[in-house]
Amino acid sequence: MYYNKKKLWMNYAPRYFWGDPLDVRFYLCKELSRLKNKKILDIGCNVGIILNSADNSNKKEGFDLNPDTIRIAKTINKDFQHNANFYVKDAFKASLKKSSYDVLILSHVLPGYDYPGTEKQRNVFLNKAFSYLKKGGTLYITSPNKNNSYYRKKPKIRLPELRNTLKKEFSFRIRGWNPFYIHAGHILQYVPGWFAFLEYLMKKSVGLNKCNAFFAKAIKK
Ligand SMILES: C[S@@+](CC[C@H](N)C(=O)[O-])C[C@H]1O[C@@H](n2cnc3c(N)ncnc32)[C@H](O)[C@@H]1O
Repeated sequence: MYYNKKKLWMNYAPRYFWGDPLDVRFYLCKELSRLKNKKILDIGCNVGIILNSADNSNKKEGFDLNPDTIRIAKTINKDFQHNANFYVKDAFKASLKKSSYDVLILSHVLPGYDYPGTEKQRNVFLNKAFSYLKKGGTLYITSPNKNNSYYRKKPKIRLPELRNTLKKEFSFRIRGWNPFYIHAGHILQYVPGWFAFLEYLMKKSVGLNKCNAFFAKAIKK
C-alpha cells in the first residue's frame, strides 16, 4: 500500500511528497480505505492523496487554499478515475452546509501548528470545520512528526491540548504513531512488516507521550 502510493506520488507531485517514509498519514490512508458509501470532506487536502485512499463508493470532496495543489489533485483524480471533487477554497471563508458530512479529515492542517496562525484563528477554523460534520460522524485528525526537520523548531500540538480541542464535541481516542527517532524510518522502511509493527505499537499505546505524531479518531456527539 505504502509503496504504491509513494510511486504514484513521485510521478505526479514529487515536490509534495511527505518525505517521511513512516508518516502517520499512511495509516490514515489505510483507515480511509475501509470506508464505503460515506460523504467525506478533506479540508486542506493538498494534492488529494489522502482523500483518494477512500474508494469510489464514497462521495469525496476536498478543498485547499493552494491552486497548484488542486490542479495536481484534479489531474491524479482524472488519470486514476477517482470520483473526488476538488476545489480551491479558503477554510476561513468557506461556508459549507452544516451537519452534512459523515467523515471529516483534518490532516496536518491546524493553523498555528501546521502553518502560521494564531490560537484565535485555530478556534475559528476548528469551529467551522466541526460544524460540517453530522452528529455521529467521524473526524480524523493527524499531527506532524515532531522530529521532522521542517517541524522541529516550530510549535507543535501536545496531547493535553489535542484532548481539550476534542472533548466538548466528541468522544475520541488519541493514539501516538511512531515512537522512534525520525532517522530510524530510513532503515525501518526496508524491514519487512515495519508498517504492521508500527500499527502494533500504536494499538498497544506504546510510548504515547514519546510518539512523534498523533492520530485521533473522534465521533461527534
Ligand atoms: C501541511 S499541509 C497538509 C496537507 C494535507 N492535508 C496532507 O496531510 O497531506 C497543509 C495544507 O493546508 C492548506 N491550507 C493552509 N491554509 C489553508 C486555508 N486557510 N484553507 C484551506 N487550506 C489551507 C495548505 O495549502 C496545505 O495544502
